[in-house]
This record gives sequence, structure tokens and C-alpha cells, in this order.
Amino acid sequence: MSDFATLRSHARRLESTPIARLLEEDPDRARLLALRVGPLYASFARQRYDAPALDALHALAQARDFAGAMRRLLDGEQVNPTEGRAALHSALRGDGSQAPYARECSAQARQARERMGELVRQVVDSGVTDVVSVGIGGSDLGPRLVVDALAEPGATPRVHFLSNVDGNAARRVLAGLDPAKTAAILISKTFGTQETLLNGRIVREWLGDDGRVYGVSANVERAAAFGIAPERILPMWDWVGGRYSLWSAVGFPIALAIGMERFGELLAGAAELDAHAGSAAPRENLAVMHALTALWNRNALGLATQAVLPYDERLKLLPNYLQQLVMESLGKSVRLDGAPVGEETVPVWWGGPGTDTQHSFFQALHQGTQVVPADFIGVVRSEDGYDDNHRALLANLLAQTEALANGQASDDPHRAYPGNRPSTLLLLDALTPHSLGMLIALYEHSVYLQSVAWGINAFDQFGVELGKQVANRLLPALEGGEGAQDPVTRALLDEIRARG
Ligand code: F6P
Repeated sequence: MSDFATLRSHARRLESTPIARLLEEDPDRARLLALRVGPLYASFARQRYDAPALDALHALAQARDFAGAMRRLLDGEQVNPTEGRAALHSALRGDGSQAPYARECSAQARQARERMGELVRQVVDSGVTDVVSVGIGGSDLGPRLVVDALAEPGATPRVHFLSNVDGNAARRVLAGLDPAKTAAILISKTFGTQETLLNGRIVREWLGDDGRVYGVSANVERAAAFGIAPERILPMWDWVGGRYSLWSAVGFPIALAIGMERFGELLAGAAELDAHAGSAAPRENLAVMHALTALWNRNALGLATQAVLPYDERLKLLPNYLQQLVMESLGKSVRLDGAPVGEETVPVWWGGPGTDTQHSFFQALHQGTQVVPADFIGVVRSEDGYDDNHRALLANLLAQTEALANGQASDDPHRAYPGNRPSTLLLLDALTPHSLGMLIALYEHSVYLQSVAWGINAFDQFGVELGKQVANRLLPALEGGEGAQDPVTRALLDEIRARG
């Protein structure tokens, strides 16, 4: 029997054993299925596995050599073979590896960070009040999340993000800003991304000839050809994946919003998680447990979606960020050797902040026909100064995980709660740069270990290319040139031209 078939046989065995019973049967379950790493506490007690099922999951981890895979990642081996690259995001935030290549990359990252510190000082000293960060995908979502999470409300410079090619995005971001007091950062690993180049031109023109424009790219020549002064361009490298890059100079907007010192604390938190994921025994390893839980829900229970529910307003962008991290990394159907995976891979990730979402989609989580496993994320200490609100927030967080798991019987089917809806609870002692760095790095490593279990490449994203190619082919048609081949697109173009 394959490892995954074994997992499914455990799931069948447990079909009529709800979470509430698992908790009754093992009074120690809450303690046994909890892990603490620094300021991060995780409870897996409300997942639908028992000890034998967990043994099977750990057997899978061993068979797929999770420990060796972590070492290969951290040492900078070519874990991205389809592009012939390492994925050394860990080298951006620490130098835990002894491997020469990883150390060399750490040194490059340190140098770039020093330059970034100088540019941060330059921008701050220039008295700008606002910064517009132009980028998309991995060149946007990470900095956007961290700035939203950690920037002090009202602090300057205020950092704004411009990603969508829709000109309405540029209009909205620039409205109310003063070009004389605004700087722009164009972030693009390739410096060939349509959205960023078009928005970059808008912002450059809006700033005027003396505008302060900075760049971050692995293609420094292209950034310079765009007109950015070389001394204002920060490097990145092909050994960093876009969606894993917020720790590099892609984090320039973060450093501007929270300062270099706190940016360093973010990196240190991620480095702590790197060290943990690379060395902790499997059963104490948060990244391993998180990855195995994801595999259990997807492949043993067959659950097609996964919710992420941060109970902290400052983490409201986490679902958006994780959608790229998880789905661009794991949205694959073939293994490294090109053969079909043979198992379902990534579920659809979605979510939003509690308590808002309790009043939108939680009805479906409690009583819908689809079971949706959820990651709940909470913060124990909040420094917002509104203690009553914070207690209410935590009460709601605890209540939802309990109610989803335990349900409630009723003679009235409309008022019955089936329960047995699994969740993981991740609790941060406080939301600091350090704990946020750990949380994000946890997801990065969980994603990687899931890819190892499925034998897929977490670090390429060829699936996004076809749409870009077709869009480039269609652009001339919208500019009045040659029409399209596809009959539906042709009809749509006729419609657009007639109404435009
Ligand atoms: O959408 C595909 C993608 O290649 C992402 O992987 C990447 O983060 C994003 O585009 C932006 O790319 P770049 O940083 O090269 O502009």
C-alpha cells in the first residue's frame, strides 16, 4: 500500500470518531498535540488524526526524507531543478548553514542589506512623507502584509502599494499625495513584468524629472535602462524566489515603514524558525507537523479547500499573502520527473480576518456540506489599549475553534451543528517583527515539506506564463491591430471595440 493509501485507510478507520471523542479518549491530547517554539504556540489537538494515524504521517515524512530535504534547502542545493536553482530565502535572514554556497549567498545578502540601510537613511533624511511601492505578486504581497501588520498607524513615511495594472489603482494610490514629498520604489525581480513597468512609468511621470525613484531587481541592467540611477538600485538574485523574497531588498518598503532595526528582528525571527525546522525532531518540529496536517486534510480526508483566519486586524492580509505562497508553490500536477503526481495537491486557500468573517462566511464553515479545515491565528497580548475588545476577540477565537470541533446536537435539524470540523490554532505571544518572521517562515517551510511529500517543485511557476503570453498577443488587437485567432476572443474583441 502506498503511504497515501495508508493514510486514507486511517481516515476510514476514524470516520466515525469525531474530534470530540478523540479528546474524550485521551485526556492528555490537548497537551500532547501542542508545540511551542519561542513566541509561537501551536495546537493540533483539533485535527482529526489519532496516534496511529500520526505514526503513519511521520512514516511518510521519514520515507520522503523530510530531514534531508530541509538540509538540502538550507544548504542551497538545487531544490528548484526545473530552473536549475537553489531557493535560499533562509540565507537572506541568517547564516545557519555551513555549506559554502549558502554562506556566500548570506554574505551577498548582508552586503545588500547594508546598502539598503543607507538608502533607508537617504529617503528618511530627504523628508519624504510618502513612499509608493510598485510591484506585483512576490514583489508586493510580502512587503504589503508586513507593512500593514507592523507599521505604527500614522508614522511616516507612509508606505503605499501599487500592484494592479488597472489604472484605477494608480489613480487611487496617487490621489492626495504630493510628488515633492513622495519617493517611489519599483520592485521587480525580472524587471520585465508588464504591470510593474506600466505602473512604474505612471509614477515616474507623476513624480517629474527630479523624482526620487528607487529600484530593486535581479536584473540591474534593465532597472538602469528604465532610468533608475544605479546607486538607487538594490540587488536580488536568482537563488531567491519572488514569493520568498520579502527578506531581501524586496523588503525595502518594510524597512522604510518600520526601520532597519525592526526589519532585522523580522529576519531574526525567521532565522529562528529556520534553525528549528532544520534541526528539531519530527514530532517536535512545527514545520513538519504543520505540513503533515495539511497532507492529512488534503490526501487522507480529501478536503478541497483550506481557510486561514487571522484573529488580528493587523494580519488581515495574511490570507492574500498565503494564497500566493501556497498556491503558486504547490499548484502543480506533475512531479519533478514530469510524471503525474497521482495525488491531489494544493487545496484552494482562502480566508479573512476574524471576527468580521464570522458574520460573512462562517455559516458555511459550521453548517455547510463541505468541511473546511482552518488555521486560526491569534495574538495573546495586544498593545492596542482596548482591553475589552481584545478579550472579546480572544473569546471569539476560542469559541469558534471549539464550536467547529464539538458542534451541538439539536432535535431541530436547522439548529444542529455537526461539528468535527478540524482546525489548527497558532497563537503568537504578541505581534512583533520577530514573531511575524517566525510565522511566515513556518508557512514557507510547511509548503516546502508538502512539496517534498508530493515530489513536486515548490519553486517554479510555469503555470502563470501562458496567460501572460496570450495577453501580449492580444494587446495589439486592443490597440486597433490584428484580431485574435480564437472565435470567442474575436467576438469579445468586436464587442469591446463596438462599445469602447
Ligand atoms: O505572477 C508570476 C510572477 O512571476 C510571480 O512569481 C512573481 O512574484 C511576480 O510575477 C512578479 O515578478 P517580478 O518580481 O519579476 O516582477
